[in-house]
Amino acid sequence: MRKKIVAGNWKMNKNLQDGIELAKQVNQQVLGNNVTVILCTPFIHLSEVSKVISKDSLFLGAENCASEASGAYTGEVSAEMIKSTGATHVIIGHSERRAYYNEDNKTLNKKVKLALENELTPIFCCGEVLAERESGKHISVVKQQIEEGIFDLSPEQFSKVVIAYEPVWAIGTGVVASPEQAQEMHKVIRHLITEKYGKDAAGNTSILYGGSCKPSNAKELFDKPDVDGGLIGGASLNADDFMGIVNAF
Ligand code: PGA
Repeated sequence: MRKKIVAGNWKMNKNLQDGIELAKQVNQQVLGNNVTVILCTPFIHLSEVSKVISKDSLFLGAENCASEASGAYTGEVSAEMIKSTGATHVIIGHSERRAYYNEDNKTLNKKVKLALENELTPIFCCGEVLAERESGKHISVVKQQIEEGIFDLSPEQFSKVVIAYEPVWAIGTGVVASPEQAQEMHKVIRHLITEKYGKDAAGNTSILYGGSCKPSNAKELFDKPDVDGGLIGGASLNADDFMGIVNAF
């Protein structure tokens, strides 16, 4: 069966020292129970955080990777480099990358493949903006992101992907999607996977919710049958809040 996952996305927060401290605090509190807990940190934190976490219960991820394998791409960080720090996961296609750095589905598809080639688990993000939801286009928007981003993978490759549904209007706004709204989209996504890769693949794919998830609302979201965990921004910057979400399972 599919994994329950709670992944923190620190975004561009915490200097190196503060990041190491936060990772140590989370590491102390993680029990290694039935939830896969992941810290996705800025690139420069990866190798240091890797040294302070127990890797059987707490996993490490990056927030992005380059769309090319190596070479003259000043300022970029490759999937291979990420892997070499001890990281196991990488967020791909976060809405902030899509909106502020013009990352389109074609580019994201290249990143997903490079992550997989380097044995990193891609956490592939999708989600609509408010205007798209208000005009009733949210399902078609997410469908297109998923089809263009990850549906040309082989079944074997696809089995390694984690999906995160993050309605953009809920990210960092304090406006959380209702459990029903989350469940509706997660069910649509699982149905798309069933059509493309079959029922077993759909049943085995973890689909996370992201957007203003907090200890106080996590349980009602995670109780929904197609919500397999969360991608957590703001609340991952404090160990107690983050663990409150992990422990909501
Ligand atoms: P948030 O961010 O929890 O701060 O809303 C979620 C995300 O962007 O992954």
